[in-house]
Amino acid sequence: MTPRASISATLLVMTSALLSCADSTAPVVAPIAAPTPVAVIDVEAVYGECEPGEGGSGKTYMGREIAEVMGHTGLDWLERTGRAQEERTDLLLGLLPLRPTDAVADIGAGSGYFTMRLAPLVPEGVVYATDIQPEMLAVLSERARDEGMHNVMPVLGAIDACGLEPASIDLALFVDAYHEFSHPAEMMRSLRVAMKPNGVVVLVEYRLEDPSVRIKLRHKMSLAQATLEMNAAGFDLVKTHDELPQQHVMLFRPHASK
Ligand SMILES: C[S@@+](CC[C@H](N)C(=O)[O-])C[C@H]1O[C@@H](n2cnc3c(N)ncnc32)[C@H](O)[C@@H]1O
Repeated sequence: MTPRASISATLLVMTSALLSCADSTAPVVAPIAAPTPVAVIDVEAVYGECEPGEGGSGKTYMGREIAEVMGHTGLDWLERTGRAQEERTDLLLGLLPLRPTDAVADIGAGSGYFTMRLAPLVPEGVVYATDIQPEMLAVLSERARDEGMHNVMPVLGAIDACGLEPASIDLALFVDAYHEFSHPAEMMRSLRVAMKPNGVVVLVEYRLEDPSVRIKLRHKMSLAQATLEMNAAGFDLVKTHDELPQQHVMLFRPHASK
């Protein structure tokens, strides 16, 4: 089986598993996994290897060691009581340029901390909550159902493709997620295809430049590194916000010519 076929087969199995957990009376739309075209990338050339650092995967991309994926057992940490105050998630939500009709993608949505807060901000739109861990999506789907969030659509993504339809997304949000994507080149190129021409990608990452931010090094990113990697995927930095206590908020738009 080719690697591509194997990924598709895995997706199918994971999606079926997820669907079998779903309550048929649920108001939330069933999870989907729409494959997005992936650009051909010379993976040998873009990725390297290194001795794994603390919290690192041992795989490098553009001079950065990719972090390990946070497993679903880390769910409690994402939902910890002090999070809103520590990260000022209220400020973050206020910085997002959202319209009520927007199609938003919460990519690497985890337990849905942001999905649940984004959904009321786009009452006539939709929030696609994507993740690669079915366990995360199961929790998220249940929450959306319990909280009556009818415009939340869980999407089981693949490690190298976001699973969103071409030209469908107005705003894609990544909170504390991009740095752990194992295939950032393929993922961001697939996202480039999924974005509407005027769409916005928002990366929120712990500031590597700030030693007072007490997070493992591989789970932090600098503005320069994020910009480098996003440029390579066809996005330009258009704005940054420094209001949050620990994180960069970096806004990118698709490059016109790519
Ligand atoms: C640290 S959690 C952050 C969750 C959420 N954004 C939040 O802030 O509460 C990172 C999430 O990214 C997901 N993830 C890792 N690689 C991914 C990929 N290639 N595509 C989508 N999600 C991914 C993980 O499964 C995990 O749920």
